[in-house]
Amino acid sequence: MNEHVHAATLSERADEIEEKMMHELAERIATKSVLFGMADGKIEMLNGFEFKKSNPDKYFLMGADPRLPKMPAKPTLIDFFKNRFASLNHLLQSATLALKNGHNEKIVLACLLHDIGVASFIRCDHGYWGAQMIEPYVDEEVSWAVRMHQALRFFPDSSVGYEYPQMYINNFGADYKPEPYIVRDYERARNHKWYMSARLICVNDIYSFDPNAKVNLDDFVDLIGRNFKQPEEGLGFDNTPSSHMWRTLMWPTRYL
Ligand SMILES: [Fe+2]
Ligand SMILES: [Fe+2]
Repeated sequence: MNEHVHAATLSERADEIEEKMMHELAERIATKSVLFGMADGKIEMLNGFEFKKSNPDKYFLMGADPRLPKMPAKPTLIDFFKNRFASLNHLLQSATLALKNGHNEKIVLACLLHDIGVASFIRCDHGYWGAQMIEPYVDEEVSWAVRMHQALRFFPDSSVGYEYPQMYINNFGADYKPEPYIVRDYERARNHKWYMSARLICVNDIYSFDPNAKVNLDDFVDLIGRNFKQPEEGLGFDNTPSSHMWRTLMWPTRYL
């Protein structure tokens, strides 16, 4: 193999890696975690050394990604709602319906936060992830309900008029059966003192109770203030068991 061909192959390979695994920024290189590639059916990881060879003047991103909305130094839950959540409508519709139905603030907050796992982070086990994110900051009943709504959504409860969602039949097929861990968590939840709190999330968990309803995050700022213990240092910097999750949302393309 002559020098020229060898060089071309290396540079092609570098181009391919660049194309596939990362987005190059003006001054820094933003990397993709393995999980992002798995969503495209690929298990692969950036070889930093190889890429640096073709971009010797650039460093990897180790802070904020300039392509994403800027976060303040001490981010609040509202900052995450505004700058990191892909969609607010479903959460605001659910919380607005819970308010209309006269539920207490814990239930309204649980409805407002029940799908933040999906809205900001990941679909698989979104109830469990979402509950873990908020656990240090809300009443235990709220995070418990958020965790359990995921399992309860698959099981009807005629006492509150909740049926198995038609949407799940459309989305997963009529013969879909929840995994055993979901069934077990449902059974545990059924006899729990906060069962009805998680169940009320399901009852208010609809995609649009009124397509013309004006829903606005501003309507919930005071309720969040009363019921979400916003850390003074900012979410991510307060040394709780979920601080790292908020930091990852803030900086999803950091090299380490
Ligand atoms: Fe959900
Ligand atoms: Fe939902």
